[in-house]
Formats: sequence, structure tokens, C-alpha cells
Amino acid sequence: MSEKLDALVLGGTGFLGLNLIEALQAGGHRVVCSRRRSSNTIFARRLKVPLVQATLEDEGSLVEAMRGRETVFVFAGHYPRYSVDTERQVANAVAGLERALHAAERAKVAKVVYLGSVVSVARPANGRPARESDGVAAVPEGSTYFAVKVAMEAAAERAKAAGQDVRILCPTGCMGRYDYKVGTGFFVLGMASRKLDFFVDGDINIVDAQDVARASIATATLERAPDSRLIVAGHNVRVAELLERMSQRYGVPMPARQLSAEEGYALAESEERRCLESGRGRPRLTREMVDVVVHGQFVDDSKTREVLGTSPVGLLQTLDEAREWYGQNGYLKADDVA
Ligand SMILES: NC(=O)c1ccc[n+]([C@@H]2O[C@H](COP(=O)([O-])OP(=O)(O)OC[C@H]3O[C@@H](n4cnc5c(N)ncnc54)[C@H](OP(=O)(O)O)[C@@H]3O)[C@@H](O)[C@H]2O)c1
Repeated sequence: MSEKLDALVLGGTGFLGLNLIEALQAGGHRVVCSRRRSSNTIFARRLKVPLVQATLEDEGSLVEAMRGRETVFVFAGHYPRYSVDTERQVANAVAGLERALHAAERAKVAKVVYLGSVVSVARPANGRPARESDGVAAVPEGSTYFAVKVAMEAAAERAKAAGQDVRILCPTGCMGRYDYKVGTGFFVLGMASRKLDFFVDGDINIVDAQDVARASIATATLERAPDSRLIVAGHNVRVAELLERMSQRYGVPMPARQLSAEEGYALAESEERRCLESGRGRPRLTREMVDVVVHGQFVDDSKTREVLGTSPVGLLQTLDEAREWYGQNGYLKADDVA
């Protein structure tokens, strides 16, 4: 694994992109980060990574940003935070990814690593942990996030089938540093600040964002594209068990209420409506979060471990680092991380 990459991280200003840039820099690879005009570049600037403007809406900007790079990591993508207007959101997401893949061909990029999501992996009928070969997930009724991710992966598979070197990774729920928009870090932040007063239980898998970065680099340095998508996973855990681990480790109480799936959906719907109608605030719970838990599943990542030679860090290390990062960056009070 001594090959040095010359890479563009499309979506490098986001949570997983920042973790990837840090890992690429630590490994001595050359890396450039894309940004949009509106991007928050505070963390990218701290990493002193060169920035280049590109948006998925403008293929010309993508070609310019990719020119001269041999590897492009596609970590950007339409990320629906609200479950509204699914058809339009899916069409936008697919069009954006297709532009990126087309731009990579025009710029003569040798390989593309596309970061999808484990939500596109079907649930096996017999209840065993899901594997790459389990087919494409059925989209739960009304789930924009699942619909977007399944359609994007299909677009990446089409490009691959047409001969482009596209390497597809499907990470599970990611936690770690730089989750500044607060995705899966919601659990850590909510528990550490003692503000999480409810949860919906279900099977999930939590992977460290740095493990996703390491797996992405390992995938890019493989001589040939793997024969299938690869699941990038950490630890299979029930939500209740995850919260219990944090409760014990940080000496904080468990959330007062466990919501049923129906109660979770009802709360998410009213929270999304409140924020959309007022144009203010963040939902305490989103439809995406409930979908990911209710339709979540345990996974078997043995193929990835074998193909990439990677293994995940411990769950407590991931939780501790995420909590510490939120403490250092003003999301938590000093008392919350003491
Ligand atoms: N976080 C997780 O737990 C998780 C789990 C599984 C899969 N994934 C997938 O991994 C990918 C990255 O996730 P993330 O958590 O890092 O998301 P994120 O923090 O929202 O970052 C997304 C990145 O993509 C960029 N981007 C979005 N739309 C763009 C557009 N139209 N043109 C150019 N750039 C655009 C964003 O730019 P701005 O900074 O300007 O917004 C940002 O740099 C997503 O596709 C997500 O679905 C994430």
C-alpha cells in the first residue's frame, strides 16, 4: 500500500470528507478539496488543504476541479435532511452524481471512489446480518433518504457497468470528529448534554469516520476495482445499548422515554413541518433518523475486511473522540465533557 494518491475530494468540506482529507494528508498523499461558494470552510482551512470551487450542478466546474487528478473521491451528494418532494430530490441527486461521473471521464480521472450508504443493501429474509450480495434494499414508503441513496448507487453501478472505474462503498452510521452539521453525532451530543429525552430503538451499525477514511484510501489504492460494492462497518449495536454504553461511561442518565416507531414517525413529521413552515430551527427528530433506526440492520463486513485488510477501532474510542471534538468546538459545555 505504498502508492501515493493524487486526489480530489468532492465534498471535502463535509463531515466524512474532512476525515478523509486528514487521513490522506497523514498518509502523505496529495489532496485537493472541493468547495461551494456557500460552503463552511473553517475546518478545511484548518487542515490547510488547497480548495477549488466545484458544484454538482455545474459539470464544467467539476471537470476543471478534476483535471490532472488520478483519483476522485465522490463524498458530495444531495443529502436530503427533510422527507419532502421525494421525486424531485431523487432526480436532483442522480443528476448531480451523473454529472460528477461524466466530468471524471472528461477529465480523464483514472478511478472514482463513490461513497454511498448501507441503506441501499437489502435486508436478508432469514434475519442474518446483511452482506454486499444481498441485493438492493426496498425503499420504505415515504423515505426520501433511502430513495435517494438507492437511486444514486444504481447510477454509480450503471457507470461501472459501462466500463468506468467506479469503486462503491456503503458506510453504516458514521460517528467521529468533524460532524459539525450533527448527523449520527446527534446521539453523542444529546447524551453528553443530557438533552436527549427520547429515543427509538432498533438495530444499527456505527462506524468511525476515520475507519471510513481508511477504507476509502485502501479502496483507491487497490490495483483493480473490487468485484462488488463494499460495506464499511464498525459495530452492530441496538440503539438502547449504544445509549446505555454512553450513560455508563459518561455518568449521564438514559433518555426518559422510548418511543415506538409510530410515535417516532409522528414526532419527526411534526418537527420537520414546524421547521419547514417557520424556516427556523432544527427538528429534534427527522424522518431520516427514524427510518435509519426502524429499517436499520446488523451487517456482516467480512468481505471488506478481507479485500481491504482493514478492521474497525473500538466503539468507545469512537464515542470518546466524537464527544471530545464537540467539547473542543463549542458544541458542549466544559461540564459536559469533564
Ligand atoms: N454521515 C453519515 O453517517 C453517513 C452514513 C452513510 C452514508 N453517508 C453518505 O456519505 C456522504 C457524505 O456524508 P457527510 O455526512 O460527510 O455529509 P455532509 O457533512 O453533509 O457533507 C456533504 C459534502 O458534500 C458537499 N455537497 C453537497 N451538495 C453538493 C453539491 N450540490 N455540489 C457540490 N458539493 C456538494 C457539501 O458541501 P457544503 O459543505 O457546501 O454543504 C459537503 O462538502 C453522503 O452522501 C451521505 O449520504 C453518510
